Amino acid sequence: MTGGVHEPSRADISAKTLRKDRYWVAPAVTVIGLVAWLTYATVRVFMQDYYYVDEFHYLTPFYSPCTSTGCIEEAAHFGRFTPNHALIPFAMLSLPFLLVFRLTCYYYRKAYYRSFWMSPPACAVPDGHKRYTGETRFPLILQNLHRYTFYIATVIVLINTWDFILAFGGTEGFGVGLGNVVLLINVIALWAYTLSCHSCRHVTGGRLKHFSRNPIRYRWWTFVSKLNTRHMQYAWISLGTLALVDFYVMAVAAGWFDDLRFF
Ligand code: FES
Repeated sequence: MTGGVHEPSRADISAKTLRKDRYWVAPAVTVIGLVAWLTYATVRVFMQDYYYVDEFHYLTPFYSPCTSTGCIEEAAHFGRFTPNHALIPFAMLSLPFLLVFRLTCYYYRKAYYRSFWMSPPACAVPDGHKRYTGETRFPLILQNLHRYTFYIATVIVLINTWDFILAFGGTEGFGVGLGNVVLLINVIALWAYTLSCHSCRHVTGGRLKHFSRNPIRYRWWTFVSKLNTRHMQYAWISLGTLALVDFYVMAVAAGWFDDLRFF
């Protein structure tokens, strides 16, 4: 084996790694977390049921915007014009872009390179593969799509925010329930994740020679930079809130329990 720690110029140490701590815990937890989330999301996206609570206008983000001709009319806030098929998500205009946005996210790249691809599993642990070409070739060069999907993801969060606002007006008029709170938590988490994106940081403050001549962009960049330091946390929190709000909407829509109404 050549390359990396096996280069002739590196110290000749036979041990795989000199790390004695349980460095494999973080990658293992990442695999469990991502597989569990993806399994849940896949089941829900193709269930094509229990995605809307008509009485309170709760729409799960997994079905937003609901553009399939199979969507119920009340849930289709932007019209129904995409094909209805068991293998086509009702939100086919948003989910593929969100998938690419998350797949190409700088944090998730680090997470799945380490946990699924072991490239490398942790610092000071050899790469699990013989060759390393980074992201310079197909298919990984497509990771550069991230900066473009950032704009689309921002539009989709605006749509999620619109869904949240619409949920204050049920069939009986204005009202607030626990579902509104859950939707709000999810919208905040989605904004935190999207605005803390590295591409967003570049959009707000990149390619500037003088911050002093661009005080507004400097303020935005400072704000985004602070969020950016917690991007990993927002990545996981927003996955959690997405599953939470979807489960809540499914449970209320299916009649497993009633929405707790405040007024
Ligand atoms: Fe993670 Fe852009 S870097 S969303």
